[in-house]
Amino acid sequence: MEHINFDYSGALNFIEEKEILSLQDKINENYEKIYNKTGRGSDFLGWVNLPSSFSTDLIGKIEKTASVLRTKSEVVVVVGIGGSYLGARAVIEALSPQFNLLKKKQGNPVVLFAGFNISEDYHNELLQVLNEKEYSLIVISKSGTTTEPAIAFRLLRRHLEEKYGVDEARKRIVAITDKEKGALKQLATEEGYETFVVPDDVGGRFSVLTPVGLLPIAVAGIDIKELLKGAAYMEKTVAVDYSVKNNPVSAYAAVRNVLYQKDKHVEILVNYMPRLHYITEWWKQLYGESEGKEGKGIFPAGVDFTADLHSMGQYLQEGMRIMFETVISIKQPKTELRVPEDEANLDNLNYLAGKRIHEVNEKAEIATRLAHIEGGVPNLTVNVPAVSAYYIGELIYFFEMACAVSGYILDVNPFDQPGVEAYKKNMFALLGKPGFDEEVEKLKKHLG
Ligand code: PA5
Repeated sequence: MEHINFDYSGALNFIEEKEILSLQDKINENYEKIYNKTGRGSDFLGWVNLPSSFSTDLIGKIEKTASVLRTKSEVVVVVGIGGSYLGARAVIEALSPQFNLLKKKQGNPVVLFAGFNISEDYHNELLQVLNEKEYSLIVISKSGTTTEPAIAFRLLRRHLEEKYGVDEARKRIVAITDKEKGALKQLATEEGYETFVVPDDVGGRFSVLTPVGLLPIAVAGIDIKELLKGAAYMEKTVAVDYSVKNNPVSAYAAVRNVLYQKDKHVEILVNYMPRLHYITEWWKQLYGESEGKEGKGIFPAGVDFTADLHSMGQYLQEGMRIMFETVISIKQPKTELRVPEDEANLDNLNYLAGKRIHEVNEKAEIATRLAHIEGGVPNLTVNVPAVSAYYIGELIYFFEMACAVSGYILDVNPFDQPGVEAYKKNMFALLGKPGFDEEVEKLKKHLG
């Protein structure tokens, strides 16, 4: 069976092999810190062995709840933000049909998301859609106190109760939160909602392989056992041999740090399939929140090719030389389609007739890689055999572990996010939340 591998040959015009290998000792130390829980943020390493040790009972419970929600609902709304939503969205969008009409045809509910913005129009339009649909809610917040999902849940819960009555509404809500603390936990206990626990030792952005990601993913009709199996394979492989030569996680962590040391401060994750867009969004959060601190860190950005070759392509080819690209390269798409022959050939495309669309996409990928390397953009490739639950599982663990190893190379705590509090304090002060008087005084100076 094939597995994910990492190819950094497209960086070797810019950095030397010996520079990459020079990080090997540091990388070995970092794995020891991770496995022995002796590094910074070691209280949040519960994700490391999750795939191989996931309880079969819990998988059963998740699948059972998912099946109840699937039976009752044309739409399931997942309420959450950051790590409490991006992982589920990434996997669901990667593996589900891309058009709602097809989802319906295949008997899967449409999974919609809320709680990740405070747009009045978004919520109003969502409620309008839900007026017409049989639906249920999964509300996710580890802290149980995050403002965005709390507002969305208040609106949706009210709507659900008005639509179905309080008793039936309670049966259509599942809460995923801390085992004992937070407003959501309290509410769930009082209302008697079915609940799942976010483990204490797993931070939001590392929680996709807990009920946080797995319940919504199972609701979408995706095989969560396969996802965990793929992740477990990567978990095992990474632990066997730390060497940059044999371990794709070590190689990725090393190469991106050598590039960073050479002033390549922006990493752009590239995909060639629209279904991978949210994998990029998930990755951006994972790396941005984990590494961007203490005045350090690679800035994680993303593009969807070939669409963005017609917008960002110019900058990538000839703009400031501060970036490198990491391409998620998929070998096999899920389906097959060929360019048809056309007798009139008015569009001059007959030279492509009979070729798979994927072959054209592959050639675009190779052409872009060569052009960008030539233009001064190092190219790294994560080769993924196919878009399946198994390989997405491998990919998730690959990126998670590389993020931890890489964060330790950078000498930051990859598992905290102190910086996200600053905007919240200001927002609470502006909104008049009790207890924020000091911030109000500070803001007055700026706002006049
Ligand atoms: O990775 C993280 O810890 C954050 O992105 C959180 O997931 C996000 O802020 C949501 O937090 P919560 O689940 O507590 O509502």
